[in-house]
Amino acid sequence: MTDHLIIFDTTMRDGEQSPGASMTREEKLRIAKQLERMRVDVIEAGFPAASNGDFESVKAVAEAIQDSTVCGLARTSEKDIRRAAEAVKPANSARIHTFIATSPIHMERKLRMSGDQVLEQAVKAVTLARSLCEDVEFSPEDAGRSEPDYLCRILEAVIKAGARTINIPDTVGYTMPDQFAELVRNLMTRIPNADKAVWSVHCHNDLGVAVANSLASIASGVRQIECTINGLGERAGNASLEEIVMAVRTRQDFFQCDTRIDATQIVPASKLVSAITGFPVQPNKAIVGANAFAHEAGIHQDGVLKHRETYEIMKAEDVGWSKNKLVLGKHSGRNAFKQRLIELGLEVSGEEGMNATFARFKELADKKHEIFDEDLIMLVSSDEAISVNDERFKLLSLKACFETGEAPKATVFLSEGGEEKSADASGGGQVDATFKAIESIVTSGADLQLYSVNAVTSGTDSQGEVSVRLAKNGKIVNGHGADTDIVVASAKAYLNAVNKLQSGLEKVNPQV
Ligand code: KIV
Ligand code: ZN
Repeated sequence: MTDHLIIFDTTMRDGEQSPGASMTREEKLRIAKQLERMRVDVIEAGFPAASNGDFESVKAVAEAIQDSTVCGLARTSEKDIRRAAEAVKPANSARIHTFIATSPIHMERKLRMSGDQVLEQAVKAVTLARSLCEDVEFSPEDAGRSEPDYLCRILEAVIKAGARTINIPDTVGYTMPDQFAELVRNLMTRIPNADKAVWSVHCHNDLGVAVANSLASIASGVRQIECTINGLGERAGNASLEEIVMAVRTRQDFFQCDTRIDATQIVPASKLVSAITGFPVQPNKAIVGANAFAHEAGIHQDGVLKHRETYEIMKAEDVGWSKNKLVLGKHSGRNAFKQRLIELGLEVSGEEGMNATFARFKELADKKHEIFDEDLIMLVSSDEAISVNDERFKLLSLKACFETGEAPKATVFLSEGGEEKSADASGGGQVDATFKAIESIVTSGADLQLYSVNAVTSGTDSQGEVSVRLAKNGKIVNGHGADTDIVVASAKAYLNAVNKLQSGLEKVNPQV
C-alpha cells in the first residue's frame, strides 16, 4: 500500500511573483488546462485580492477546471478572504488558502503585531473562510524561522477553527533538510489535533535545498507538497514539481507514497510555462532540461547500449520527452495533424484556431521537411496561436544582410492595421539591426529586458524559439516567436511583445 501524496501547484501564484513572469488571463487558462491534464490535485490560480485581473483569472480558471481543486490565496483580512471565496466559487472543488507571518522578525518588524494578536487574526480568518468554503488551508508564513512553541499554539487553534490543510512554508529558503523535517515532525507530534489536518510543505530555493527540504518532510508524515513547474518563483524559485514527482515515483521503495500525476505531461507543461513566461529551462535541469537524458561519455553510451538501466534510472519517454520522432511532413493532412495534437494533449480552441495553426504547420513543413513532436508543441504553445486576432503589427517580410567586416543591415516590411510600412537600420548584428528597424516603425519606446534563443529540436534546420521581454511604464510583457531562421523568429518575438504591450491585455499581477 502506498499513500497518496497531494501535488499542489503554485506556478500561477508564487511562480508568477517572479519578476517578469506575470501572466494574462488567457495564459493562466492555458497553463491551468495543462495542469489539469497532468492530474495535479490542487491548482493555486492566483491571489484574487491583488488586482482585478488576478481576480478574473482565478474565476476563469475555477469555471474551466473540472478535475483539480482550484485554490485562491488570501491574507487574513476579511476583504481578502471574501474576494478569494468569490473567485473560487464556480469551481467543482474550491479551496481558500489564507496565511499570516509567525516568525518574531515578521511579526515585530513587518506586521507590528504581538503573537496573541496574530493568533486571534488567524483564527478569525480561518473561521470566516470556513463559513464561505469547505476546504481551507492555513500557512504560518516564515515558519522556518518561527518559534516551534508558538507554531504549536497557533496551528492547534486554526485546526480547531476548521483549517483542513496546514502548510509549513520555508518562506526565505533558510532551513536545512534534517532541520526542516524535524520541525514538521515535532509539530505533528506535539499538536493534539494534528491528525485532523493534512500536513503540507512549501519550500523556497534560496540555498538550493527546496526540493531536498520537501522530500525530507515526507518521512515526517507530510502528504501535500507545494511546488511549481520548472521551479519557477521569486528569487531562486520554489521547489520544482517535476523533480518531486519523479523522485517519489522513481524511489517508491524509499518514500512509500506516490502522486496521481501523469508524468508524460511533465515536459509539455515545462515547455508551455517556459514559452509563456519567457524563462528558459537550463539544459542541465533535472527531468526537463534538454540534456537531462543525454549520455555523452563513451563509457555511459556503451553501458546504455548494452543495458539501458546501467546508467538510466528513468525513461525519457515516461516524462514526456519524445525521441525526436518524425511524426508529420509536408504531405500530412489536416486529420493526421489534428490526431497527433490530440495524442500529445495539445489543445487548439475552435475551428478558426485550428485553421490558423494548421496553416502555420504547412508553412513550417515547407521550410523544414521533418516535423517532430517538439515542433508541434512549439507551434501550439507559441503565443501566435492566441494573439492572431489582436495583432496590430504583422511581419510581412524581412531582409537581413551580413558580411564579415561590414555593419549588418536589416530591412523590414510590416503591416500596421492593413497599411504596409517599411524601414531599414544597421546594428551590432542582424538581430540588433532588425529590432532597430522594427522599432523605428512601431516606436514602442520600450526597454528590452530579456532576449533568449533556444533550439526546439536538434540539427541546424531546427526551429529557433526566441523570447523577448519588453517593459514600459511598469507593464512587462513577454513575446515569443519561432522559425527555422532565428532572425525571423526574433522579429516575430519582438512584434509579439510590442502587440501585447500596445493591446489592452492586462498582466494580472501588479508589477511595480
Ligand atoms: O513562501 C511563502 O511563505 C508563501 C506563503 C503565502 C505560503 O508563499
Ligand atoms: Zn512562497
